Amino acid sequence: MKILVTGGLGFIGSHTVVELQNEGFDVVVIDNLSNSSIEVLQGIENITAKKPEFENIDLRDKKSVQDFFKKCSDISGVIHFAASKAVGESVENPLLYYENNINTLVYLLQELQQKEEAHFIFSSSCTVYGQASAMPITENAPVQSAMSPYGNTKQIGEEIITDVAKVSSVNAVLLRYFNPIGAHPSVEIGELPLGVPQNLVPFITQTAIGLRKELSVFGDDYPTPDGTAIRDYIHVVDLAKAHVLALQRLFEKKNTEKVETFNVGTGKGSSVLEVITAFEKVTSQKLAHKIVGRREGDVVEAYADTQKANTVLGWKAQSSLEEALESAWRWEQKVRGKMAVCPKQN
Ligand code: WQD
Repeated sequence: MKILVTGGLGFIGSHTVVELQNEGFDVVVIDNLSNSSIEVLQGIENITAKKPEFENIDLRDKKSVQDFFKKCSDISGVIHFAASKAVGESVENPLLYYENNINTLVYLLQELQQKEEAHFIFSSSCTVYGQASAMPITENAPVQSAMSPYGNTKQIGEEIITDVAKVSSVNAVLLRYFNPIGAHPSVEIGELPLGVPQNLVPFITQTAIGLRKELSVFGDDYPTPDGTAIRDYIHVVDLAKAHVLALQRLFEKKNTEKVETFNVGTGKGSSVLEVITAFEKVTSQKLAHKIVGRREGDVVEAYADTQKANTVLGWKAQSSLEEALESAWRWEQKVRGKMAVCPKQN
């Protein structure tokens, strides 16, 4: 069975390609390299000894999508990662997000709905819950009005998939990620943020390696035990494995609804200061950081109720926060080790 992984050279996509190949799936990757590097293909092959087929296609080009599915008529499943994902950028440039995250989804579904059988795994996000009123967050928590165009594209994407599944052969699983961090234990693949990292863990590792002067902690006046915001940090390999299980669930027709939703997290919340402390423990080095004001749009806390993923999907996160941070640090050392140490920037 051939599986299409869009955005398959990206952070979560590349780790999922590895797990799919480990499970014996043939994989074809579509990626437009706008936020990834072609070298990731070699990284994947170094891990699995199988180089996935690769097509450098921009899914915003409807004809390219149509031509691809004409050429590759044996695609039986799609895992759709390709999307823009920077919350702040989406506020400044909403149409970039609506075009890239919505049009591409529509073009993919237009092809899939013509198939006898179409299994679709969608990369969604806990962002759809906004600031949930109760912790841990279950899949029944209400989807709240999005706090950014990025978050809105995930909500709209889920609705589009649900509407299409009702009237077509498409079966889907929506995976609502919490905070993916870390890197493959082989350090052949990992996170490659372009420019100044927006997310916490890559900023931490770049600070620790000397690329950034210090980490700014966005607010310590939240109503949490240590005042800093709480998130559910999940090892990217654990997250990748959830995608394979979701796909197998559809292939084996175990799904009880045309569209199923799962929260994918560890079920454990960690504050920013707790992450810093864990990182310092793992690396035996102090991390330069300072407290600054809150970041616009941040929620106070978000961590998953993993009951449904554990019992229905048969998936459970295996790695601890420390193990994930350790893998992120080893990856940073490897990536920077290739390059001369850059002057400190912030
Ligand atoms: C985590 C915590 C920050 C950077 C976002 C998206 C989500 C998903 C993951 C794509 C927060 C704090 C961060 C820094 C800090 N993206 N922080 N200093 O915002 O929970 O989730 O990324 O799928 O959809 O919303 O992740 O890593 O940006 O922040 O103090 O330099 O770290 O305030 O409390 P977030 P994050």
